[in-house]
Amino acid sequence: MKEKILVTGGTGYIGSHTVVELQNAGYEVVIIDNLSNSNAQVLDGIESITGIRPVFVEADCTDAAALRKLFEENPGIKGIINFAASKAVGESVQKPLLYYRNNLNTLINLLDLMPEFGVKGIVFSSSCTVYGEPDANPIDETAPIKPATSPYGNTKQISEEIIEDYIKSGAPIKSILLRYFNPIGAHPSSKIGELPLGVPQNLVPYLTQAAAGIRKELTVFGNDYNTPDGSCVRDYIDVVDLAKAHVIAMKRMLDRDDKDAVEIFNLGTGRGLSVLELIASFERATGVKVPHKIGERRAGDIEKIWADPKKANEDLGWTAVVPIDETMKNAWAWQCKVTGK
Ligand code: UFG
Repeated sequence: MKEKILVTGGTGYIGSHTVVELQNAGYEVVIIDNLSNSNAQVLDGIESITGIRPVFVEADCTDAAALRKLFEENPGIKGIINFAASKAVGESVQKPLLYYRNNLNTLINLLDLMPEFGVKGIVFSSSCTVYGEPDANPIDETAPIKPATSPYGNTKQISEEIIEDYIKSGAPIKSILLRYFNPIGAHPSSKIGELPLGVPQNLVPYLTQAAAGIRKELTVFGNDYNTPDGSCVRDYIDVVDLAKAHVIAMKRMLDRDDKDAVEIFNLGTGRGLSVLELIASFERATGVKVPHKIGERRAGDIEKIWADPKKANEDLGWTAVVPIDETMKNAWAWQCKVTGK
C-alpha cells in the first residue's frame, strides 16, 4: 500500500515540485494550502506531469479545527512535509506578527496533531538564513546559528527549536530539518514553476521577467562586495534536485528506526555563484540577453554563502545534479510559458 503524505503549502513553488517527486516515488499525497501565494491551477500542472491528481484541501494550517478535520477525513497520513509559511524577508520586517502567527502557529498545530493521528515524521523547510553571514565558506551544519536579521529568519530558527524541544519532551515523532540554500528553476516539463505575485523580490524570477521584457532591467544589488567580481555569492540549487531531497528525507524517517529523531541537513550544491555569474549562465544557456545595471547594495544582504553539502551527500545519499545552465534553461522555458511566448 502507498504511504500517505500531507504536504502543507503543496501548491506553492517548492511544494508543487515536491508533490510531483513524491508521486513519482509512489507516495499518495494530500495537499493543504490556503492559496494565499499560489493558485489551484497548479494541481492541473501536477496531474499532467504525473497522471495523478493529489487530494487538495483549501484551508489554512493556522486553523487547528480545519487541520483536525483534514486528518479525520484522510486517515492514515504517515508523514508531513511542511512548506506552508510566509517567506518574504522584507514583508516580515513590516508585518512581524503576520509572520510569527502564520509560520509558528502552523507548525505548532501540526506537531500537536501528529501523535494523536499516528503521524510518524515531519520534514521542515528551514533555510541557510539561520547561519547569517558565515565566518567561513562552505558552511556545514555544525556552524553557529547567528541572531536572525528579520522576523522571517527568526521564524525559521524558532521553528527548528520548537521541533527539537517537542521531540526532547518525548513526543513520539521524528523530524528532518532541511536548510535550503537558494532554490531556483522550474520543472523541465514547464508545467509547474515559480509564480511570484507582483514584483519579484528574488533574483531569478526578476531576471527572467527582465529578459522577457516585463521589467525594464534587473538591478544587480552592489558590485563592491569582497567577492571575485564584487557581486554577492549564493549557492543556487535546482528546485527539482531540492524536491528529490524531500522524498529521500521522508523515506528515511518512515523506513529507518536506527537514525536520530531529529536530523539536520544543508541542501545546496557546494558551489558559490555570483549574481553576475548567474546572469552570464542564463545568457549562455538561453542565448537571451538580460538587461541589467549595477545598483546600490540591498540592506541586510549577506555577502557570500554557500553550502558544504557533505552530510546530505553521505548520510542522506542525495546530491544536487542538475547543471546550472540546465536550471537556467528551465527557468526561461517556464517564464516563456507564463508570458505566453
Ligand atoms: N539580487 C539582485 N537583484 C535583484 C534580486 C536579488 O542583485 O533584483 C541579488 C541579491 O542581492 C542576492 C542574490 O541576488 O545577492 C539572491 O537574492 P534573493 O533575493 O534571490 O535570495 P536571498 O539569498 O537574498 O534570500 C534567499 C531567500 C530567503 C532566505 C535567504 C537565506 O529568498 O527566503 O535566501 O539566505 F532567507
